[in-house]
Amino acid sequence: MRFLVTGSNGQLAKEIMKESEKRNISFDAFDHKTLDITDLKSVREAIGSKRPDFVINCAAYNAVDKAEEDWKNAYLVNGIGPKNLAIACEENNTVLVHYSTDYVFDGRKNTPYNIADDPNPLNQYGKSKLLGERFVQSLSIKYFIIRVSWVFGKGNDTNFAKKVLEWSTKNDVIKVVDDQISSPTYAVDLAKATLDLINAGAYGLYHMTSIEPCSRYEWAKYILDLISWKGKLIPVKSDEFKTAAMRPGYSFMDSFPMMQTIGYNLTDWKDMTERFMEELKMARG
Ligand SMILES: NC(=O)c1ccc[n+]([C@@H]2O[C@H](COP(=O)([O-])OP(=O)(O)OC[C@H]3O[C@@H](n4cnc5c(N)ncnc54)[C@H](OP(=O)(O)O)[C@@H]3O)[C@@H](O)[C@H]2O)c1
Repeated sequence: MRFLVTGSNGQLAKEIMKESEKRNISFDAFDHKTLDITDLKSVREAIGSKRPDFVINCAAYNAVDKAEEDWKNAYLVNGIGPKNLAIACEENNTVLVHYSTDYVFDGRKNTPYNIADDPNPLNQYGKSKLLGERFVQSLSIKYFIIRVSWVFGKGNDTNFAKKVLEWSTKNDVIKVVDDQISSPTYAVDLAKATLDLINAGAYGLYHMTSIEPCSRYEWAKYILDLISWKGKLIPVKSDEFKTAAMRPGYSFMDSFPMMQTIGYNLTDWKDMTERFMEELKMARG
């Protein structure tokens, strides 16, 4: 079995490669510079020459607010990019593993979103990711589309957990919204479960997140308590923070049918956060 990993400098890609090494799976890694997934010719060349069994697409445009103005670039990377990969996968009989987001949902449901719920994205980022899902599904390929939420890991300084830690070094007061509810997902766990899903060979659409929901505020509080931060954390409403993109109030996803497919669900976000903090501590030595 051989993988081709795109967006290889991203936080999830790094964990996919680590987990592949552990399992003795060989892979070719392409970062943004070595393979721009928006360029069909380059995508065809890479997949045609490497002939992987699985393409794992970790490349994405994740700047949710910037995407409101810069929507064409978001659509290119998150929509046309996966389409290009799907075209080349179809030509080479390769399976495509692609990631999407809870932001394909509008958040008006107030109970966990499952794979049968209709997407209705509120912002351009969500629309761009839904476009990617639809392109992948429209070709005659075997694919996994895995929707994830609030991804965090060591390999990205702009994820929410890393940002909270950075704010804590510079502020005595931190304000975080308590009316956005979803679920943090540790990149390490996503990588393991992705490889288990690949092994199961049960292609299709999945939701893969930690098993309990929480608000941004609850997550920040948990992180700050773990480092015994002495400042003041204040819960606020999204209305108080003017952002370019609207975000769903509730976008927690039910992980069905992960359990039925690979025999387990991911753990809860507190356990994930504790292991992440340990990983950071160990990296600092
Ligand atoms: N992060 C989250 O909270 C979150 C939430 C829901 C879903 N997801 C999805 O989960 C997946 C993994 O996300 P992640 O957090 O690991 O992302 P990440 O850390 O932001 O990494 C994305 C990578 O994609 C690369 N990239 C951007 N444009 C590219 C292009 N045109 N061609 C090739 N590479 C390109 C970036 O490189 P440069 O930086 O050099 O441009 C970056 O290394 C993505 O599908 C993402 O949409 C993430």
